[in-house]
Amino acid sequence: MHTCIHFFFFFYNFLAFLNNDLWRGLNLISKGKNRTHAAHNYGYSGNNSLDSKMNELRERVISKNVNEPEFLQAFEEVLECLKPVFKKDNIYLGVLENIAEPERVIQFRVPWINDKGEHKINRGYRVQYSSVLGPYKGGLRFHPSVNLSVIKFLGFEQIFKNSLTSLSMGGGKGGSDFDPKGKTENEIIKFCQSFMTNLCRYIGHNTDVPAGDIGVGGREIGYLFGQYKKLKNSFEGVLTGKNVKWGGSNIRSEATGYGVIYFAENVLKDMNESLKDKRCVVSGSGNVAQYLVEKLIEKGGIVLTMSDSDGYIYEPNGFTKEQLSHIMDIKNVRRERIKEYLKYSKTASYFGKEKPWSVPCDLAFPCATQNEINNKDADLLIKNNCKMVVEGANMPTHIDAMHKLKKIKLLYVHLKLLMQGE
Ligand SMILES: *[C@@H]1O[C@H](CO)[C@@H](O)[C@H](O)[C@H]1NC(C)=O
Ligand SMILES: *[C@@H]1O[C@H](CO)[C@@H](O)[C@H](O)[C@H]1NC(C)=O
Ligand SMILES: *[C@@H]1O[C@H](CO)[C@@H](O)[C@H](O)[C@H]1NC(C)=O
Ligand SMILES: *[C@@H]1O[C@H](CO)[C@@H](O)[C@H](O)[C@H]1NC(C)=O
Repeated sequence: MHTCIHFFFFFYNFLAFLNNDLWRGLNLISKGKNRTHAAHNYGYSGNNSLDSKMNELRERVISKNVNEPEFLQAFEEVLECLKPVFKKDNIYLGVLENIAEPERVIQFRVPWINDKGEHKINRGYRVQYSSVLGPYKGGLRFHPSVNLSVIKFLGFEQIFKNSLTSLSMGGGKGGSDFDPKGKTENEIIKFCQSFMTNLCRYIGHNTDVPAGDIGVGGREIGYLFGQYKKLKNSFEGVLTGKNVKWGGSNIRSEATGYGVIYFAENVLKDMNESLKDKRCVVSGSGNVAQYLVEKLIEKGGIVLTMSDSDGYIYEPNGFTKEQLSHIMDIKNVRRERIKEYLKYSKTASYFGKEKPWSVPCDLAFPCATQNEINNKDADLLIKNNCKMVVEGANMPTHIDAMHKLKKIKLLYVHLKLLMQGE
């Protein structure tokens, strides 16, 4: 079942690409005309085996992006999933090669001054990946792990996620290696203003419309939007995730987390099961995790864990709505570490520097960051008889772990179907 979900989505996606005027213009598919010619131009028309053609494409992409492990991992996932599509027509190999190369990569300097009066330099990125279906669209991430490889993998996945909405949106992603953790309000303002001062010349409501991601929430979007408005003298829909008071959309914050749960619920329904009384392990405590947990509790699930990059909280009887509101307060208002939650619960324990995957569960919801489930974590989940992994983050499962989970027929639900919170 997992494989079906996986490639079906991509298949429809590609049809969307191929139906686009651009491709029609290139005469690639219109009325089944001569495809050999176009395919030949990509070099995939020979009569060697499909596997060797796929290898050829793989080699080409690897050789161009040697230092980008996250991007190559995302590419490999897509390549493997699409094999049935390539089997139908080799031309799709050429299409994928085309899509794998970003239309534009922007890197810029972000200078700002901290509260001690020291000059700091961070690096900003915007990767405008594909505008085949519409203006670039995708989040901004502020996190010390951000580099070109991370932004490219996110941007590449964003193309497919956005095309699923059937709205006219391309794909892109951006961010900075700036670490918002422990920064004062004043420092966040300074950084956001400097970041936007450079970014503003590349975005616009018909060009590229960024949103939030890790480290960029409603507060940061507010400072970014304010600076954009000031520089461009234009109040336009250039960022999503804005406060509803000034043009944001209702229920935007909840959309991703809720969406993951609605999807999980439907998958379970298909197996005559429900979320009720399922023991759930959740990682993360950001926007997605918070609303995902809220909905899970509402549906009768028992949420045993939540985490941040320092460690995880284990609540043996499951979080209540009230306990969740403490987590939200710690994370969204006070901006402290999740460990602070111990003050509000006599039953909870905290495990520093650990991920929650060793806690036995029926369902696992990775909602923190990329590659948070590795080979060893997959072994733990399998050993503890976890029935289903539902992704609420971008590429949270390492590709080796994914192969392992699929091999034992653990139901594995890919994120791209779900993350439509833009
Ligand atoms: C397809 O294109 C090739 C190369 O341009 C050409 O040799 C061939 O005759 C064409 N076939 C058809 C059916 O048009
Ligand atoms: C490809 O197929 C054609 C006919 O099917 C054959 O004549 C040709 O030798 C093959 N080429 C290769 C490189 O195998
Ligand atoms: C980018 O960062 C990731 C981890 O965040 C790392 O695995 C990767 O090697 C880095 N890539 C480059 C080019 O520095
Ligand atoms: C679910 O229940 C229906 C009706 O009782 C049955 O036809 C179907 O086979 C069941 N599906 C699974 C996966 O057990």
